[in-house]
Amino acid sequence: MYNAKAYSVASATSPFVSTTIGRRDPTEHDVQIEILFCGICHSDLHTARNEWSATMATTYPCVPGHEIVGRVTKVGSAVTQFKPGDLGAVGCLVDSDGTCPACQANLEQFCPNATFTYNSPDKHLGGVTYGGYADSIVVNERFVLRVPSNLDLAGTAPLLCAGITTYSPLRHWGVTKGKKVGVVGLGGLGHMGVKFAHALGAHTVAFTTSASKKEDALRLGADEVVLSRNADEMQKHAGSFDFILDAVAAEHDINAYINLLRIEGNLTVVGAPEKPHAVNAFGLIFGRRSLSGSLIGGIAETQEMLDFCGQHNITSDVEVIPIQKINEAYERLVKSDVKYRFSIDMASLKSA
Ligand SMILES: NC(=O)c1ccc[n+]([C@@H]2O[C@H](COP(=O)([O-])OP(=O)(O)OC[C@H]3O[C@@H](n4cnc5c(N)ncnc54)[C@H](OP(=O)(O)O)[C@@H]3O)[C@@H](O)[C@H]2O)c1
Ligand SMILES: [Zn+2]
Ligand SMILES: [Zn+2]
Repeated sequence: MYNAKAYSVASATSPFVSTTIGRRDPTEHDVQIEILFCGICHSDLHTARNEWSATMATTYPCVPGHEIVGRVTKVGSAVTQFKPGDLGAVGCLVDSDGTCPACQANLEQFCPNATFTYNSPDKHLGGVTYGGYADSIVVNERFVLRVPSNLDLAGTAPLLCAGITTYSPLRHWGVTKGKKVGVVGLGGLGHMGVKFAHALGAHTVAFTTSASKKEDALRLGADEVVLSRNADEMQKHAGSFDFILDAVAAEHDINAYINLLRIEGNLTVVGAPEKPHAVNAFGLIFGRRSLSGSLIGGIAETQEMLDFCGQHNITSDVEVIPIQKINEAYERLVKSDVKYRFSIDMASLKSA
């Protein structure tokens, strides 16, 4: 084991502070990565503040971060896909059993024995796993992704969660040219959803509560933008969508979006607010509409998404911050005041 520099919270109400954590020395199948950039996902905030206590309580101290891009510094003797000096990326998953039906279907995110990048039982060291708000991480080679060489690294980090979480359901629900697709909430996930829906050729409509994001939404690839608090604007789209992706982090009325679906249209939620949604049965019954969820994506699909981004030159719009600004960044995230993802420049951790 060795010591890594990191930022952690000690409780749901504590600020982030500089700390050191133990990391395992790479075993034969492991890749050690010096972290260059780590995105700040709203799930990091939900976890740091124990907002998901009913489903997945947080173990403290907690080191979040699952949008990781870095440089390989060491590899175990059995590693074949990476060598020191390569770029490598890590998302929300760092291990799974590899044998269950989910793993065999390349859906490691649903493996009952999956290890998530943080706040998950650590099979090697005991305790829980620690995420990417750190100077390095050690991960089994099967869970390390290849980064296309043409992409900006600060903007690539958020692809590892915000990217795959929006790409996967858009692909699963057959979003393509000729479809009308909505994306709700222009945050880290939502702005990637708009970019992907546009790149897949769909007629893309962005729904936002922030008038200040209207111009951006068009630049990001939306064909139309709707201010979701304006009932008249919403009503114009009633019964017209093939697919809507809801990426909102806070409590809101999803029935307003179910009513915008055409017959057999689908609303997929990826946003995970603290409180449950209230769903009006009639919205689903009239029109045989469906409501679904989606969780990140498997490793093969995450690589497919990164390669797609390489081909289409897609990255996240980021505001790069030093780690010392993390508490301020969290306060801004709660207020939807980020365009559109914070990406931590981990070089700043050297002086922490
Ligand atoms: N399913 C998965 O696998 C998965 C993966 C990652 C994250 N998540 C979850 O997805 C959610 C979004 O994550 P994120 O990182 O994209 O968060 P984010 O950057 O904070 O974006 C959320 C957006 O939701 C909108 N919003 C916020 N409060 C709202 C309210 N009260 N009513 C309506 N809209 C509101 C805002 O967009 P506007 O300003 O445009 O309205 C905001 O920018 C979080 O709950 C996160 O935990 C799920
Ligand atoms: Zn995330
Ligand atoms: Zn499995």
